[in-house]
Amino acid sequence: MTLTFLGIESSCDDTAAAVVREDGQILSSVVAGQTELHANFGGVVPEIAARAHAEKLDLCVEDALATSGLSLSDLDGVAVTAGPGLIGGVMAGVMMAKGIAAGSGLPLVGVNHLAGHALTPRLTDNIAFPYLMLLVSGGHCQFLRVDRPDRFRRLGGTIDDAPGEAFDKVAKLLGLAQPGGPSVEKEAASGDPARFALPRPLLDRAGLDMSFSGLKTAVLRVRDELVPAQGGLTRQDRADLCAGFQAATAEVLTEKTRRAVAEHPVPVLAVAGGVAANASIRAGLEAVAANAGARFLAPPLPLCTDNAAMIAWAGIEAFRLGQRDGMDLAGRPRWPLDQNAAPMLGAGRKGAKA
Ligand code: KG4
Ligand code: ZN
Repeated sequence: MTLTFLGIESSCDDTAAAVVREDGQILSSVVAGQTELHANFGGVVPEIAARAHAEKLDLCVEDALATSGLSLSDLDGVAVTAGPGLIGGVMAGVMMAKGIAAGSGLPLVGVNHLAGHALTPRLTDNIAFPYLMLLVSGGHCQFLRVDRPDRFRRLGGTIDDAPGEAFDKVAKLLGLAQPGGPSVEKEAASGDPARFALPRPLLDRAGLDMSFSGLKTAVLRVRDELVPAQGGLTRQDRADLCAGFQAATAEVLTEKTRRAVAEHPVPVLAVAGGVAANASIRAGLEAVAANAGARFLAPPLPLCTDNAAMIAWAGIEAFRLGQRDGMDLAGRPRWPLDQNAAPMLGAGRKGAKA
């Protein structure tokens, strides 16, 4: 029998539901974003996010079921993100999943959001364990060695901001549109990356930890020197700052990935997260994989960014290992994938960086 799962995701600012089959077929994947609701606040507002999730979840589930052409009685289980993330949103999703499971008698599986990202290459490309995953988004930045659906080793990651968060903040301080990644990348195309000397944080230090908050502050400092001296920023200043920031970020990610691949030789290097859309960052990572003789895998963007297909898939993988959750399944704001890794410092704009 081929398992079919409903997946539900609501841990950050996307409300999502999907129906996925064990053979990798995505029968539906619905994602309702909230960007416009948070646009005036410079970040995700947890209360607004939770309320929007509660309003949209049932519509997303209905839509996902209708698109798949299946009804609840055709499914084999319900998987839901039970953390880490903004707890109001996580709880809205968990309650929804519990309601569906209780009403239909379907098994319930609580999924770690990061496991969803980390297992996506198996959904899209059916790859074998072990493999290396670099997760780079607005809320996450970590290297994971994935050994089994329930065994992840966190090899390193950011000690402060995630790279996407830094792209967004740089865009904001230069007056560019949100989300910052695409705007900064566009400006950078006509900029000189060498005009301003920006730092490469933690590159001189051994290991796989990274830091992006100081880099963003360095951009702020250059801006604050230029503005009073010239009475503002020229288009070229903006482009050069974007190019410099992007080059520094790409260099840090590429070099740390080179070290990760050297220390943990595995056949596949996979990436996930919105930042993997950046052409120069992606090119750097592809080159690292090619030099190490590893296959480079970047799932299509809609499956790289937050979605529920990855949660349904991670649920299927966990279910096959025997995981079943009860009505006592709890939402967890923090939930490190690797229980043995040192706890991370601080919590980011988009919630805990587990
Ligand atoms: O994975 P994602 O959609 O959401 C989470 O953060 O979970 O990632 C969004 C992040 C944003 O911070 C956005 O600025 C960044 O990914 N991003 C990019 C690019 N496209 C999106 N960063 C750099 N270059 C891009 N082209
Ligand atoms: Zn995510």
